[in-house]
Amino acid sequence: MSLFRKKSLDHMLIQVADSEKGLKRTLGAGNLIALGIGAIIGAGLFVRTAAAAGQAAGPAVTISFIIAAIGCAFAGLCYAEFASMIPIAGSAYAYSYVTMGELIAWIIGWALIMEYALGAATVSIAWSEYLNKLLGGAIPYEWCHSPFESFTDSAGVHHSGILNAPALIILLALTLLLIKGTQESAFVNAIIVFIKVAIVILFIAIGWQYIKPENHTPYMIPEGTEAVKDQAGKIIADYSSWNKHGWGGILGGAAIVFFAFIGFDAVSTAAQEAKNPKRDMPIGILGSLVVCTILYILFGYVLTGVAPWKDFVDPEKGREASVAYAISTYMTNYKWLADAVTVAILAGFSSVILVMLMGQSRIFYTMSNDGLIPKAFGQLHPKYKTPYKANWILFVFVGAFAAFVPGHVAGDLTSFGTLFAFVLVSIGVWILRVKNPTIERPFRTPMVPVVCSLGAIICIAMIVGLDTQTLKVAFMWMAVGLVVYFAYSRKRSKLRNFADMLPTADDFESTKK
Ligand code: ALA
Repeated sequence: MSLFRKKSLDHMLIQVADSEKGLKRTLGAGNLIALGIGAIIGAGLFVRTAAAAGQAAGPAVTISFIIAAIGCAFAGLCYAEFASMIPIAGSAYAYSYVTMGELIAWIIGWALIMEYALGAATVSIAWSEYLNKLLGGAIPYEWCHSPFESFTDSAGVHHSGILNAPALIILLALTLLLIKGTQESAFVNAIIVFIKVAIVILFIAIGWQYIKPENHTPYMIPEGTEAVKDQAGKIIADYSSWNKHGWGGILGGAAIVFFAFIGFDAVSTAAQEAKNPKRDMPIGILGSLVVCTILYILFGYVLTGVAPWKDFVDPEKGREASVAYAISTYMTNYKWLADAVTVAILAGFSSVILVMLMGQSRIFYTMSNDGLIPKAFGQLHPKYKTPYKANWILFVFVGAFAAFVPGHVAGDLTSFGTLFAFVLVSIGVWILRVKNPTIERPFRTPMVPVVCSLGAIICIAMIVGLDTQTLKVAFMWMAVGLVVYFAYSRKRSKLRNFADMLPTADDFESTKK
């Protein structure tokens, strides 16, 4: 038995060596930071910042960014250790399958569906908002909102969503691109990164002159702030619960803007292409986090200084396409900037959606190869060699969320899924240090268990800061995941049926002895 097990490890190491042959170690620390920034800046900044300010944190959304960044930094260091140990696989699902066993891997994989699939849905909904803004609001409310959204405007007219058509259309277009296997070239990625960062810096620099100190006073949402209602008396935003005002609101805001940091883990997937992974991976992960955190704090400060945060809950003001709204309403000399920002944002969002859809289809592909989900997810297109069935199934799933679920619900669930995976990864690194101390770790998380525990604690605190409704839906999702696992996946698992073929953490250990 152990012979077989060893052989399978050899097989895996050969695979690693093989895949390394195809990849050149060309990326330095600077490239890795750029890669991270490209994957990070998106709807989180251009949509969720305003949502967090309007619903929970007020101008203190700047502090929310700091809390979210600290949680990400600790979890990111843990992520880097896993990524360097098992460089062939690019996701927490695969790391945990080899190191922590099938059930934990399944749970992480199931949570990652929330991160990637619902993340793609959230960004496509944000894309729809900015498209409508660019078209001057030409798309009727009914056709760019979910059926769960409605409000009565100042003229007393009631609007109710039917489905979010533009979000569906962008998802369809990008799914078709993915099936054809279009690879974003490094060059296109570099241009998009440049445009995104330039827009953020331009907004900060120009907007700074339009900051009104009264918009920043008080800095947190005070206790007892009255709920905001529409013309028909329906409550649009309520500040009474603990995570909607004061310091609790800042934590609630951190859970919302956490979305803006999702994607930095993409840096860890490039471990095989880094020139000096030991030194450059932490620099890449932490460097992109530091750059984004500084930009985000300044951005949040300017946005809430230019427009009063209550505008960001009002459907007739800045609840949607908040940045374009703030510029066109309060920076009246810079209307051109509103359009330029919108076009850049639409391009930037498209690349984030593409990366998320691709990441999810690859995770489905791996889970299907492991036998945990049906084979269809792993079938490749005869001509394009892409997992086209996974892409189509994903389109139906993500499209249903994008069309019929409000953006803030999808966004909060995305935050939950990612935070949950981060907690398990943080704890997992610690467990593995104790259980398998001698596995070779090209990058070691510093100060274990302090960093692991703080990563897990801060991420759990942000989970607690999410809406009760979000938590209920999220736990239901995880419960469904467990039912699927015990009813379907466990029996079909290749690890269970062909245990000899897969390496385990103990195999790594045995190679050291
Ligand atoms: N961080 C990415 C965004 O904000 C997911 O769009």
